Amino acid sequence: MNNELANQIRSKVDIVDIIGERIPLVTKGKNFFCVCPFHDDTNPSMSVSREKQIYTCFSCHATGNVFTFLMNYEHMDFKEVLKYLGNRVGIDTGNIKVTKKTNKNDKLYEAYNFSVKYFQNNLQSSIGHKAKEYLFKRKIDDTLIKEFEIGLSQDKRDDLTKLLQSKQYDLVTLNRIGLSSDDHDIYNDRIMFPLYDINGRTVGFSGRIYKDNNQNKYLNTKETDIFKKGQCLYHYHIAKEECRKKNSVIVMEGFMDVIRASSIGIKNTVALMGTALTKEQIILIKRLSNNIILCLDGDDPGQHATLSIGNTLHEQGIEVKVIKLPNPDDPDTYILNNGKERFEGLISSAINFSDYKIERLKENVDFRSDEEKANYINEVLKETSKLDDEIRREVVLKRLAKEFDIGYNTLEMRINSFIKDKPKKEAIVIPKKISTKKNKYTKAYEQIIYFMLNNDWVITQVEKERLIFPTEEMRAICSEISYYYKLHGNINVADFYTYIQDKENILILLNNILGESYSEKTTKDELFLYFKVVREYCEKQEIKRLTNKMKKEVDPIEQAKIVEKIRKLRLGDSE
Ligand code: UTP
Ligand code: MN
Repeated sequence: MNNELANQIRSKVDIVDIIGERIPLVTKGKNFFCVCPFHDDTNPSMSVSREKQIYTCFSCHATGNVFTFLMNYEHMDFKEVLKYLGNRVGIDTGNIKVTKKTNKNDKLYEAYNFSVKYFQNNLQSSIGHKAKEYLFKRKIDDTLIKEFEIGLSQDKRDDLTKLLQSKQYDLVTLNRIGLSSDDHDIYNDRIMFPLYDINGRTVGFSGRIYKDNNQNKYLNTKETDIFKKGQCLYHYHIAKEECRKKNSVIVMEGFMDVIRASSIGIKNTVALMGTALTKEQIILIKRLSNNIILCLDGDDPGQHATLSIGNTLHEQGIEVKVIKLPNPDDPDTYILNNGKERFEGLISSAINFSDYKIERLKENVDFRSDEEKANYINEVLKETSKLDDEIRREVVLKRLAKEFDIGYNTLEMRINSFIKDKPKKEAIVIPKKISTKKNKYTKAYEQIIYFMLNNDWVITQVEKERLIFPTEEMRAICSEISYYYKLHGNINVADFYTYIQDKENILILLNNILGESYSEKTTKDELFLYFKVVREYCEKQEIKRLTNKMKKEVDPIEQAKIVEKIRKLRLGDSE
């Protein structure tokens, strides 16, 4: 692979843009931070450096340049990334031939792609008449049908199964991937909504009844190798781009809600497909935007879910906003009945989750009962004590004082007692950690390597001083750095990454080093202090080795020679 071309492309893209298009970034000082997409987290543990053009996660130690980021995040291979970025910056990558990797799930995706087309054809054919009537009645027009690839399964028992069998899918496979049950189709006479993974590939279906019958409203594909319900968010692949533009993500319950919102041009939405929220879904939602707006159904289960999801997110330090729909509307029916403008009005007047909770507390309180009233006020104070914003706390207290004619001081005293009791919530901190597990020698070696990566003159010094590193990986990385420097006349971490991307052991060590907070610049005097530590280590190792050798030596003359060697080493040590 041509590294010159790779470096040229890399120098034209900004890693901050590439990551920022995919994950919300916040700035702190020179660096950008985000929630690391490579491990389960909600804290901004990944830093992205514009200056160095690399990213580093302090928690899971994922690190690399723009190429490795895209390879891992988008599951592309190196050539695909080069083509993608080359295209973006207008560098010709015509010479690069992308070889399509075969994946064990390719056949699954193929079967699903085929099924989507098959269901779509059914809906457009004469057997789709009744289903279309149903969809039109629900104001799902042809444009939406096409956009969301809506289809219809046949009222026959084995149509799709037979077709797929004729395409070399055996029954065992078809059963495993959730399209057949024994030798007949899973879906019979349902309107078919493809479900997509985060990259927009069809990985399952949800089939809706459309005639009066008492079957389950929706039938979903079972969990398969490519479909895990808890890791799915409907519409994620479209929302990715839209959430960035609108700087917010709206979370809904059902995919019909998302489809409806999309029909009026609101596309920064995802659907949970139910009311439970999994850990994986939280990570995905956080990737979309820092501004999360819950817009669940207005019915009781929806209100309940708003509370529980809001609380879950709040516990993780994520403050969300809430859109309250009238009971029993869902976004779909609300938009149908009230139109685009009023729904947009609801979005712009979404309230903070804590205010939503305080509002909810008021329901079912009998204010004629002193006890219930006092209870209510206490609960509101408890809730308010969780707010980190003093001004907002004061606003609530003033309102309560006025509404219930209670002294402000009384309320303040009570709320302060709650604040005192409250376990101190960890503010979102950007972790900066140096591992304490490493001993001073390892740290010295790694620091020297880090200096080498940032200062050409250190490379020369290390060569000149013939510094020897203790492990094979360290020696390897050191000689690669020297080699790279000779080849290019300069070095930077981001390009060095490209150069060593196939050398796994070096990569691991490099990631390890960049995961720590080593300093970048040094002076000659300081560098020599590190060299001294390193030499001390080498001597120690050598003395250890010689001592062992001496113990095994039977010849007293040889033994004496070794003792002399050790003595000299020790002497050198104390000089
Ligand atoms: P809803 O019952 O709110 O669906 O369930 P909806 O969007 O309003 O659908 P319509 O308008 O009646 O057609 C929300 C989500 O819960 C899941 C589906 O993913 C749905 O989008 N669900 C619901 C099921 O999986 N199975 C069901 O039987 C019902
Ligand atoms: Mn609904």
